Amino acid sequence: MQQTMPVAPGKRFRSDEIEISLCEQKDVDRIAEGLYTCFPEVWWSKMEPPSMRPPSQSTRERRLAKRLLPSFSNPNMNWVKATLASTGTIIGIAGWMAPGNPIHNIWRRSATAAYNYQEQMSWSDEEIAEMWEGVNLEAWEAQFEKDDGLRRDVLGDEGHWYLGPLFTFPEFQGRGVGRLLLDWAIQKADATVPVTPLYLESAPTARAVYMKVGFVSVGEHNFLRRGPRAVKMEENEKGKVAEVKAVEDEVEEAARRPDWVGS
Ligand SMILES: CC(C)(COP(=O)(O)OP(=O)(O)OC[C@H]1O[C@@H](n2cnc3c(N)ncnc32)[C@H](O)[C@@H]1OP(=O)(O)O)[C@@H](O)C(=O)NCCC(=O)NCCS
Repeated sequence: MQQTMPVAPGKRFRSDEIEISLCEQKDVDRIAEGLYTCFPEVWWSKMEPPSMRPPSQSTRERRLAKRLLPSFSNPNMNWVKATLASTGTIIGIAGWMAPGNPIHNIWRRSATAAYNYQEQMSWSDEEIAEMWEGVNLEAWEAQFEKDDGLRRDVLGDEGHWYLGPLFTFPEFQGRGVGRLLLDWAIQKADATVPVTPLYLESAPTARAVYMKVGFVSVGEHNFLRRGPRAVKMEENEKGKVAEVKAVEDEVEEAARRPDWVGS
């Protein structure tokens, strides 16, 4: 899994080439496809071990899409998409949960009960069992429960934006799409008085992206952003160099980690 790279000069999409908007329910299939395409096999093999998987990838995508579908009815959940204006293709996704939502990840198996999905979607017990087939439920639930606990430790009852997931399809990475998807919520968060915190769990490979937009590490994988990073008036070139070096050190440290968790 490769580290992200700064956007190279001349590579950034022009603003008229990308549209940022909210997803519709029909986009859920593309979201599921993107999650399998963009998130590394090392993560998926822990959560959906190859020995448990159905023979066809489309079955996995259909099941994941079905598990995600009720989140579209959650008024706090904002599925934000980046669409290539020329073709209408979705090339990036951010899932931004708005402040005020309980700390209970929508991905969790336990979310079915916590958010009353079964009644809301009129799912039978058999349907629920089928959509979770092929998932190592113990690993899945343990990971997200742990992350929810860490988030509660950091934020308690404080309202915050929560990011999960964020991805850009591989052929479009490194061209500013992730930045636009992050800015969608950052602008809203910074416009409140006081500013609203934003929180996420990062893959080791993505840490530099989050640090670049002002997130600071608050644990092994978790990051918090409270407004733009304060830039002191007296900060000179030396200060800037130190900041770049800090990002580079983080990236190097992340590269040494063999495995990763996070959304
Ligand atoms: C992480 C990911 C979403 C980034 O998307 P992207 O579209 O390639 O990101 P961008 O090109 O917009 O880059 C985002 C910002 O980070 C900066 N950046 C990226 N890597 C950097 C690095 N190593 N050092 C410094 N800045 C870096 C970019 O320059 C850009 O900032 P800018 O707009 O101020 O120039 C994408 O790599 C991805 O989908 N990865 C796989 C899935 C994943 O790991 N998701 C995150 C899980 S937490």
